[in-house]
Amino acid sequence: MIPFGDPSASYKAHKSEIDQVINRVLDSGWYVLGSEVNAFEKEFASFHGKDFHAVGVANGTDAIALCLRGVGLGIGDEIITPSHTAVATVAGIEQAGCTPVFADIDPNTRCIAPKSIEERLGTNTRAIMPVHIYGQPAEMHRILEIAKAQLLEVIEDCSQAHGAKIDGQKVGTFADISAFSCYPTKNLGGTGDGGVILCRSKEIAEKIKSLRQYGWNEERESIFPGFNSRLDELQAAILRVKLKHLAVDNAKRRAIALRYNEGLKDFPITLPTLADNELHAMHLYVIECDRRNELMEYLRAHKIGASLHYPLAVHQHTSYINRIRGGDNLPVTYQFYQRNLTLPMYPELSNDAVEHIISTVHNWFREKN
Ligand SMILES: Cc1ncc(COP(=O)(O)O)c(C=O)c1O
Repeated sequence: MIPFGDPSASYKAHKSEIDQVINRVLDSGWYVLGSEVNAFEKEFASFHGKDFHAVGVANGTDAIALCLRGVGLGIGDEIITPSHTAVATVAGIEQAGCTPVFADIDPNTRCIAPKSIEERLGTNTRAIMPVHIYGQPAEMHRILEIAKAQLLEVIEDCSQAHGAKIDGQKVGTFADISAFSCYPTKNLGGTGDGGVILCRSKEIAEKIKSLRQYGWNEERESIFPGFNSRLDELQAAILRVKLKHLAVDNAKRRAIALRYNEGLKDFPITLPTLADNELHAMHLYVIECDRRNELMEYLRAHKIGASLHYPLAVHQHTSYINRIRGGDNLPVTYQFYQRNLTLPMYPELSNDAVEHIISTVHNWFREKN
């Protein structure tokens, strides 16, 4: 089976470097929040420019909750976000005590639609949380304009878009604070859970460093009600290795996407757009087509791990259904979830595998249509 993503291929591609740093950490005897985490934070911040601070945390969901707590948001504060995202985005918002509100997506970017954000604004709105879904940058310029006019915070969920750019500027640097997951399947992924926050304010970064460890100050007195959301040294050391390869790995993903787009262009399929002024991180390659379930079964029968991201939008899950404002009016999201289909995408996916996947889609159209 060709999987839709392959963290073990990423480990194998960088094995000698990763094995070396694993041994270094194991020998050091210091396993949580130490010199590797400090170095990862510095390197991740400077990857984004000189004006940033980074804080390593236990996972991407905590990163979202800690961003919100870090900027002082909590109970009663509404955060406008798409329902077309990983459940984690919304779980992180509720973990911080905030209230998610769902906006619809734009059919081209599949990211939150600025017009729908405007329709959801209310007296309790405090922030907008765009998600750069599948590695596609959201419309940050428009979103920042809305936020400025309404005095709202913006928190970018960059969990699927490490290294993506708009007009040469990396996602995560448009807002003052951004959250990233470093789960193994992500473009910047470890071999276990991990997450990182990027922010402009040194003061907020320091507050989040306190919040991630019981709200402690340097004397280990809890000055805020905190979390335990520490990043471990092994993950930090592995992420340092992966960060060095991120740009090249993202370029390999984009080359695969271009080949797919070329190979599939003559079929009634909606393909991801790769805009000239953007660098898509191509975390997932997602097409849209009619009879999506039949095509998915056909691909799986031919040992191609086609998948759904996601089978349900967040507002359709049992625990969110009829509970979140905006969830009853998401026509573009609804339509997208009838037709979305994920094809395999990871930097190590071979040319032969890509050609095999394209010709299997061709065969389905020939045999079944
Ligand atoms: C868009 C998005 N936000 C947040 C997260 C949360 O990350 P984690 O699984 O590391 O908690 C993920 C990853 O699943 C994600 O894809």
